Amino acid sequence: MRPDLRPVCLAGNWKMNFGPSETREFLQKTAKIRPYSGLSLIVAPPAVSLSAASQALDSDSRVALGAQNIHWELAGAFTGEIAGPMLKELGVTHVIVGHSERRHIFLEDDALVGRRLKGGLEQGFTMLFCIGETLEERESGRTEAVLERQIRQGLKGIEAGMLARLVVAYEPVWAIGTGKTATAAQAQSAQHFTRNLLADAYNARLAQSTPILYGGSVKPDNIASLLAEEDVDGALVGGASINAASWMALVEEASKVLEARKV
Ligand code: PGA
Repeated sequence: MRPDLRPVCLAGNWKMNFGPSETREFLQKTAKIRPYSGLSLIVAPPAVSLSAASQALDSDSRVALGAQNIHWELAGAFTGEIAGPMLKELGVTHVIVGHSERRHIFLEDDALVGRRLKGGLEQGFTMLFCIGETLEERESGRTEAVLERQIRQGLKGIEAGMLARLVVAYEPVWAIGTGKTATAAQAQSAQHFTRNLLADAYNARLAQSTPILYGGSVKPDNIASLLAEEDVDGALVGGASINAASWMALVEEASKVLEARKV
């Protein structure tokens, strides 16, 4: 049974979709979302749409605002980058780092991801730290070695006391945007392994209280089976989070699971 100390969360990673007007339209369409009290919701629009999102999410909205990137410095000569204080001004509380698209398309390595992660934690953000293996790594039996490298390198130099706002997202690269979801058992196995890594690198208490999300082709019809797994504390959702009907259906399905559990 999942310990109740871990919050359950659904985070929508909009990637490079929705400019300001589409953002307003989407958030208006989904404004009637009423997640179960134990479920937290995050949406992460592109940087240029954060301001529109922040205005569209009124103060009683249950949806937190996330960004898709952060630089570790507070300001400076870093063309194309975004600083934490700018995000804070827009009401951003969560930031995604280490996404496989950043790692594989933009060649961000573990050390760079770790700097973003550390910088974001130091500045008070809740950090969604993504890890995950490619198909080739899985098929050659290297899944655990890859996860271990990403966790140890990404968290290098970050002390336990800074990790109260860490959320890990396990996203097997072969399941992202492919329609190919990892089975609930595959997600559980990788996420249990990841939790053990946190226990080994830090301590059991930290490992038990850190939410670990699953990501990769999460849809309304597979969220319940994923959430049934002990080490799956929610989902990071791409495609299904930018369609109003499927996002609302996902929230409804996840709410049903939590309601039945009475968390
Ligand atoms: P997907 O993306 O749900 O479209 O597979 C997940 C992600 O990349 O975070």
